[in-house]
Amino acid sequence: MLDETLSIKINKTQNSKIKNVDWENLPFGKVFSDHMLVMNYADGQWGIPEIRPFESLSLHPATSAIHYGQSIFEGMKANRTDEGDVLLFRPDMNAKRFAESSERMCMPVIPEAIFTDLVKKIVDIDRDWIPNKEGYSLYIRPFMFATDDFIGIKPSDTYTFMIFTCPVGVYYSDPVNVKIEEHYTRAAYGGVGRAKTAGNYAASLYPAKKGNEEGFHQLIWTDGIEHKYIEESGTMNVMFIVDGKLITPAEDSDTILKGITKRSVVELAEHWGLAVEERKITVEEIVEALKEGRVTDAFGAGTAATIAPIAKIGFRGELYELPSVGSREVSNKISRYLNDLKVGKAEDVLNWCQSV
Ligand code: PLP
Ligand code: COI
Repeated sequence: MLDETLSIKINKTQNSKIKNVDWENLPFGKVFSDHMLVMNYADGQWGIPEIRPFESLSLHPATSAIHYGQSIFEGMKANRTDEGDVLLFRPDMNAKRFAESSERMCMPVIPEAIFTDLVKKIVDIDRDWIPNKEGYSLYIRPFMFATDDFIGIKPSDTYTFMIFTCPVGVYYSDPVNVKIEEHYTRAAYGGVGRAKTAGNYAASLYPAKKGNEEGFHQLIWTDGIEHKYIEESGTMNVMFIVDGKLITPAEDSDTILKGITKRSVVELAEHWGLAVEERKITVEEIVEALKEGRVTDAFGAGTAATIAPIAKIGFRGELYELPSVGSREVSNKISRYLNDLKVGKAEDVLNWCQSV
């Protein structure tokens, strides 16, 4: 087992690619920093983590993650303050969620303090890759996959844990149009919807593609039994302001990803004294409120998506338009605070940021 005094091998690149980056026009997720962290699990224990130059992997064709999907990931961001400090947003929560995903997928758990420490180490090595432009960040992708070269169905005995980072621009450049999905299902009760596991995203692609063909950027998933309750969107949790109250689906079923951005929005709104309700939300209730003009704001919340205003909501062939983004006091205030906080320009009242 990894002990508290983490040893790590570091092999730095002699050939940095940083000069080739177009810092003004960064797409999301296509530019990769110079290094990656790799740590292998075998014989019931984790080996020594290694940071080495970013490179392709060579895999056995029977690598079990490819066939059976034991594969989990996290998404986090690092930003730089004007003083040059590097800040991570609530990395302890990603560490915890990664451990919970591991457990659900029969994968070995990485102690949370070690996960956070490894994230800090790789970010530190590539800290020059953190963009300075407003709204841009260094996206951090920790992930783990099963590596047994074996064709039978069982939890793998060996795994690889890795982290790479990408300087990124915005994920959604415009407010999004979403469709309330009533046929396809993202997650079933008792399934793996709560885990951040690869197959959840694969399963969502076909319904999302059909939604795209109808002009929607994303779907709002509903429960898999009756399609009666709102769950979340494909890359973010969803939140609404109805009759002046912030409402968002509760996470007590195991079908919704426990979003760190959403949790932060809820905690912040409560801190600011706003009325917040986390509970079951019916589609009917939202559609009625839309018809009556009582939904003053709707937005997605996620690490990549940040606070993503929802412009239009589609349901059974009708398109409901939300108020203009400029008029949305709550999400604009939340978005401004979170953006400022991440670059050290707002007071960290709830003690969320950690320095690298
Ligand atoms: N829901 C899904 C399906 C996601 O992929 C994400 C992104 O990570 C979220 C919600 C938002 O979670 P977080 O705020 O922790 O990034
Ligand atoms: C994230 O927000 O970090 C996610 O994992 C969403 C991803 C699909 C880009």
